[in-house]
Amino acid sequence: MSQPQQNLKPVEVLIMAAGLGTRMKSNRAKVLHQLGGLPLITHVSHAAQSLSPKSIVVVVGHQAEEVEKVVQDDIGELARFAVQAQQRGTGDAVESARGLLENSDSLLVLLSGDVPMIRAETLRKLVEHHQSTNSECSILSVRLENPTGYGRVIRNEQNSFVRIVEQKDASDEERQIKEINSGIYCFDTRKLFEALKSVKPANHQGEYYLTDVPEILLSEGGVVTCFVHHDSREVSGINTRAELAEFENLLRRNTIRGLMVDAGVTFIDPSHSYISPEAKLGRDCVIYPDVSIEGKSVIGEGCLIRSGARITNSILGNNVTVKDHSLIVDSEVGSNCSVGPFAHLRMNAKLEDKATVGNFVEVKKSKIGRGTKAMHLTYLGDATIGENTNIGAGTVTCNYDGVRKHETIIEDNVKIGSDTMLVAPVRVGARSVTGAGSVVTKDVPPDSLVAGVPATVKKSTKQS
Ligand code: UD1
Ligand code: CA
Repeated sequence: MSQPQQNLKPVEVLIMAAGLGTRMKSNRAKVLHQLGGLPLITHVSHAAQSLSPKSIVVVVGHQAEEVEKVVQDDIGELARFAVQAQQRGTGDAVESARGLLENSDSLLVLLSGDVPMIRAETLRKLVEHHQSTNSECSILSVRLENPTGYGRVIRNEQNSFVRIVEQKDASDEERQIKEINSGIYCFDTRKLFEALKSVKPANHQGEYYLTDVPEILLSEGGVVTCFVHHDSREVSGINTRAELAEFENLLRRNTIRGLMVDAGVTFIDPSHSYISPEAKLGRDCVIYPDVSIEGKSVIGEGCLIRSGARITNSILGNNVTVKDHSLIVDSEVGSNCSVGPFAHLRMNAKLEDKATVGNFVEVKKSKIGRGTKAMHLTYLGDATIGENTNIGAGTVTCNYDGVRKHETIIEDNVKIGSDTMLVAPVRVGARSVTGAGSVVTKDVPPDSLVAGVPATVKKSTKQS
């Protein structure tokens, strides 16, 4: 076989993300704007990752440090960065990665940081097409009813690829062409960098066009093909906030549709629910309007989430009820628990099975034992509470002395009377009771009733 075996070459990815995105009218680089709770660039790097590439090179420019951090935090070692100080065109963007890629015997998949809907499956098909046609360059193209603004694909009478012409450089006749360059390509890496040397900024915009490379490769006898894709939304870029909102809506509808059709989740009003594409919801959950489930939250089966609830990066067991206007952040709720209305769980709050946290109760960095109830108007911070304990209305763990935070421990089967102040550090022993309005400053031994300010032991609660 004379041709080198393309399909044996490893895949690498280059993501162009140096532009500011002027039309966003923003101080932040476009690729840092969020879609479905994740930066645009992260959607693209996730699609890239699915190709199991040898490396992912990101071309950064505007807010390079911030963009690098977002990518690095997400994909770590796999990521490498090329800095393009001045944005002189897509050809120049690729040029800036020369040092990292030029001598790599690989296939290079080229993506844009602002094309977030691209699916892994499509990229795989592009690579397969590239390999099976033995191309040096494969262009992902798509037909658009309104191709304005895009580079057009020019073909000859045999329907073979001839060149790409940019909107601004195109003749009236060329502008009639509906097949456009999506800006996503697969290249033979070495051939790309070789051809890039011949690109000149001799065009209407005075930019180095990456889109000149296919024509150069063709003129040197290489095979250049188009892989025509059918879903135009998948390859459309985001340029304005209006487009960003459109995509947000599209993504949201897809996510919710998937949850209804595949996961068996009921939405009372699918157009008014906000579910992260990374969240997981179990069968027979019922989601009321105006619910937000964010980040990598995991909701078990049969949960009922009422209006106004926000659940962020939290885990809920099965058959949990979250009543109206409750906020659950970075926390864990066991099965058969009830939360709210107007409850706030945060910073690693943990409710064990069958616990109840009711009206206007805040739980911070605390563990609430199985079957324990805190029904009304209570603050539990830095507390560890045992099983089957009842926390009366208006109870406060006084965990902060103005300098440091202190812990409260409440053991099993305790009854904390209404309006008890627990001045931490403090421990309430098993089966004890505090009287209404107690200010507990010292540890309470097991089986005792304390009351007063400060609270003192009044009697034993042991049943004789
Ligand atoms: C490009 C293509 C066009 C195609 C369209 C698809 C060229 C010359 N044209 O046009 O054929 O139809 O994409 O969306 O390539 N970038 C940099 N550095 C730069 C310039 C751009 O990193 O110097 C990045 C941008 O941040 C963006 C991507 O490259 O992520 C595409 O650049 P953009 O200016 O949007 O290209 P278009 O004019 O849309
Ligand atoms: Ca663009």
